Amino acid sequence: MSDRTTHWDNVYATKGEAEVSWFQDSPALSIEMIRAANPDRDAAIIDIGGGASRLADALLQDNYRNLAVLDLSANALDAARKRIGAAASAVDWIVADVTTWRPVKAYDVWHDRAAFHFLTDPRDRAAYVERLRSAIAADGQVIIATFAPDGPQTCSGLPVQRHDSTSLSRELGPEFELVETRGDTHRTPWHSTQAFQFSRFRRRAG
Ligand SMILES: C[S@@+](CC[C@H](N)C(=O)[O-])C[C@H]1O[C@@H](n2cnc3c(N)ncnc32)[C@H](O)[C@@H]1O
Repeated sequence: MSDRTTHWDNVYATKGEAEVSWFQDSPALSIEMIRAANPDRDAAIIDIGGGASRLADALLQDNYRNLAVLDLSANALDAARKRIGAAASAVDWIVADVTTWRPVKAYDVWHDRAAFHFLTDPRDRAAYVERLRSAIAADGQVIIATFAPDGPQTCSGLPVQRHDSTSLSRELGPEFELVETRGDTHRTPWHSTQAFQFSRFRRRAG
């Protein structure tokens, strides 16, 4: 097991969903941006580093039905699956490290809240973008939320790389065109605040 997997499995084995700084009752901005990216309820959507978040619950409630959640922690995905109950069987739960994962289908929407920012090594970021390019449909869209330049420098005790839409555009390369970027102030369960940015890109035709 990699150090990364051990770290995250341990987090999810020892903390409840509302005991982690990134917990959100309702992933409202993610839902809003996913709807804007693709309102078709048959769109294939993947949540990268989805952890135990309530995004899958919210998307199912919104009648999206072609969903996948990828995370390197099996404990995280088990927690989400148990919470969702019977409806979870409609979701594809993928235990993998996004930097080495081999996608087997194309996704219309790629969503990532607070996973990409853990990739502080440029080789890992390049590997992530390579997986993204092989997984995203020709006209697909990408939503990446990270700590913003004025956000925290660590998360879950790990260093992070903060981003804005310019640095993300540079990471994704010219094949991806910025559609919108939004600032978001996340309130942790203990009422501190964290500056996030959410950027949405579309893959350019051709
Ligand atoms: C801060 S949490 C965010 C979880 C979720 N996206 C949310 O918004 O609640 C980061 C998540 O990314 C996952 N993660 C970190 N590095 C990863 C990697 N290389 N591949 C897949 N998942 C990863 C962790 O296991 C964890 O669940």
